[in-house]
Amino acid sequence: MTSQTLREARKYEEASEKLIKKEDRPLFHLAARTGWMNDPNGFSYYNGEYHMFYQYYPYDSQWGPMHWGHAVSSDLLHWRYLPAALAPDEFYDRDGCFSGSAIELVDGRQLLMYTGVVKERQRNGGVYEVQTQCLAVGDGADFEKYEKNPVLDETDLPEGFSRYDFRDPKMWRKEDGTYCCVIGNRPADGSGQILLFTSTDGFDWKYKKVLCENKNRFGLMWECPDFFKLDGKWVLLTSPQDMLPQGFEYHNGNGTLCLIGSFDESTDTFTEESNQSIDYGIDFYAPQTVLTPDGRRVMIGWMQNWDTCSLRMPDQPWYGQMSLPRELFIRNGRLFQRPVRELDEMRSGRVAYANVPVSGTVRLDKVNGRKVDMELVIRPKDPAHPYRKFAVRFAQDEEFYTSMSFRPSESILKIDRKFSGSRRAIIHQRRNAVNYRDDALKLRMILDRFSVEVFINDGEQVMTATMYTGHEADGISFFADGEAELDIVKYDLI
Ligand code: FRU
Repeated sequence: MTSQTLREARKYEEASEKLIKKEDRPLFHLAARTGWMNDPNGFSYYNGEYHMFYQYYPYDSQWGPMHWGHAVSSDLLHWRYLPAALAPDEFYDRDGCFSGSAIELVDGRQLLMYTGVVKERQRNGGVYEVQTQCLAVGDGADFEKYEKNPVLDETDLPEGFSRYDFRDPKMWRKEDGTYCCVIGNRPADGSGQILLFTSTDGFDWKYKKVLCENKNRFGLMWECPDFFKLDGKWVLLTSPQDMLPQGFEYHNGNGTLCLIGSFDESTDTFTEESNQSIDYGIDFYAPQTVLTPDGRRVMIGWMQNWDTCSLRMPDQPWYGQMSLPRELFIRNGRLFQRPVRELDEMRSGRVAYANVPVSGTVRLDKVNGRKVDMELVIRPKDPAHPYRKFAVRFAQDEEFYTSMSFRPSESILKIDRKFSGSRRAIIHQRRNAVNYRDDALKLRMILDRFSVEVFINDGEQVMTATMYTGHEADGISFFADGEAELDIVKYDLI
């Protein structure tokens, strides 16, 4: 039975979507159907299509009582909106259906697990949110909340574990047909931890153990965990709140963390080996992964960040975009990312130049656009005399531009969107220490109407940022202080 609350949301979004022109949305990044979007939820493959649900408030382009929006795609790039999947309409989720995940049950039904939120007034007048885990079962379009919700609450947790910070379940089905789930939580020390739960049928869940403890190393509360096997290792992704920067890692406040290690499945023991940021740009948070039918581990994140949400177009009827789907792999013990190969199908109008001398500003014929896939290799003209700075400027016209600039002497790659049209004094720059090998820096830059994603050195690092520059600013230019040389292959994405 669809509740009144959900029916209203569905009616509202259907009408509102029609008021938004296609050109006012990203071309191949999923954005809110209308209103507000944050985290990806329930990213999964079901009945021959990819499903993406998302944290959603249809009625305003600001965060509000959370619903789950819903879209499907066959190639992870062209998305079709479906009616909202969940609304906050039960006593156990009346203040929000927070983040969660989706799997296919053995009997072919689709199972969603999400965090139900209920506000609790404190004696001092403050309000805390009690968080529990809830289920809904469906057919890929309509979902029935489970009559025994919530299926996990404070009574399932050991003493001292927070009932207020207990959210974002990510489930998966094991090879033996049973189910596992990781959930973010806070122990008594106030930092974060990831809890592991198991189930034989997907409905009856049992607490197993603490999979990983933050111990105040990386931020405080750990949100939106994901845990999976990749190239012989195990990877724990999570999004810590309130991070302190460490060197050039973790500059985002609300950041992202990737822990790579080993996992002993007989004792459910995760042993950490290394840590790194997932994204080194400005706008990326709460990623989730899916295993594709052909065995690729593909990740999509919320291509915004809580600290920079005031960067937006005025009167924008939608807010919030998802990142490109990125295939993950491990090389030299680090997490690498590359745009999914489905993106190659959207390439057209190839333009290529090799060994272009760059000293001062250079523009190249047919190198422009705002929906672009562009590969650059930047070298000093003479390795004995390296250039001091190289910059690529894009989303450029007389007034505006955004840039990536590189100083080989420091090995620092910087993104700067200060002149992207923003009228807000928020973070617009990020510096990132990159590996500069054999006198060459390799960048693959993907531009969509409102974003740039830069894959550095074949995916060793990624820097992501949104920008809301008017679309007429579609210039691209190159600049070197000193003498550099550039190879470029550029495509329009259509
Ligand atoms: C992360 C997050 C989640 C929560 C959701 C609420 O961005 O804070 O922890 O479930 O957003 O919208």
